[in-house]
Amino acid sequence: MTDVELPKIGLGTWVLKPYEARYSTIQALKMGYRFIDTAQAYRNEEGVGDGLKEVFETGITKRDEVIVATKVFPLSVRAKRAVKSTYKSLTKLQLDYIDIMYIHYPAFALGYSHEKSLGALGVLVDEGIIKHIGVSNFTPKMITDAHEVIDKKIYANQIEHHPYLQQPEVLEYHKKNKIHQVSYSPLGRAHVLKDPVIKEVAEKNKISPAQVCLAWVISKGAYPIPKATSLEHLVDNFKALNIQLPDEDIKKIDALERNIRYIHPPVVSPKEWKRKV
Ligand SMILES: NC(=O)c1ccc[n+]([C@@H]2O[C@H](COP(=O)([O-])OP(=O)(O)OC[C@H]3O[C@@H](n4cnc5c(N)ncnc54)[C@H](OP(=O)(O)O)[C@@H]3O)[C@@H](O)[C@H]2O)c1
Repeated sequence: MTDVELPKIGLGTWVLKPYEARYSTIQALKMGYRFIDTAQAYRNEEGVGDGLKEVFETGITKRDEVIVATKVFPLSVRAKRAVKSTYKSLTKLQLDYIDIMYIHYPAFALGYSHEKSLGALGVLVDEGIIKHIGVSNFTPKMITDAHEVIDKKIYANQIEHHPYLQQPEVLEYHKKNKIHQVSYSPLGRAHVLKDPVIKEVAEKNKISPAQVCLAWVISKGAYPIPKATSLEHLVDNFKALNIQLPDEDIKKIDALERNIRYIHPPVVSPKEWKRKV
């Protein structure tokens, strides 16, 4: 296993049915994506796994060139169950190891414990079953608390991040602590694409509104994982990698902050995540 740098853009697969996830995985890897995000809760790991298998068999890319990330089933956050969940994901994905295994959300009410749950994933790192421990929907304080009681470093925190929910202080924390910020719902679940400023910046730079959002996220040093079903969207999003927005446009997008969250993880949403949508 070699250590691959985290690609600047990944493919999200939430709500894709297994056959759609297989299609998007194959098409994405064919055009150059090297980072796929799924979760046991998405019930499409088999589809992603079939897509990966096909791509590896046809030699389009190799296993050690792709970052495959998945997440512990939200109800399986107790240490023993998290280990079981990881092995289930391995089987469904038809892999020998997983690059990033996330805790989907910090469900303390369901038995999640920094020490025990992340500790159990740490053992899987030692055994080579997973390469990195990830967390998702964690606040900086939760990560600081976790690092006090575990002996491994958290590699990534996957959080909602788009022009309407910018969380600069969280981004700063991740940068300072060298934790990859993987930005989920980077298109604001397609709502942000309708924003007049996003449209104006897109027209001015002759790019799409999705590319504006993704180039903006990348400019912040975060790693967006847009979900896309159609070939057209997959291609459009991947091209964002080569787009650098002028500073004046970045500033215009910075001014769009509205503290709007589209995702409210059940059980765990901290009180400060005010429900606006
Ligand atoms: N950790 C967590 O708790 C968590 C929560 C939410 C999401 N995620 C991850 O983050 C990924 C992305 O987030 P998301 O799926 O919520 O939302 P998103 O990526 O912000 O938006 C997806 C929507 O945008 C559309 N779209 C994609 N590319 C487009 C383009 N180039 N032009 C126009 N429309 C485009 C998609 O349509 P089509 O499908 O028709 O292409 C879909 O309707 C998820 O799939 C999942 O992997 C994680």
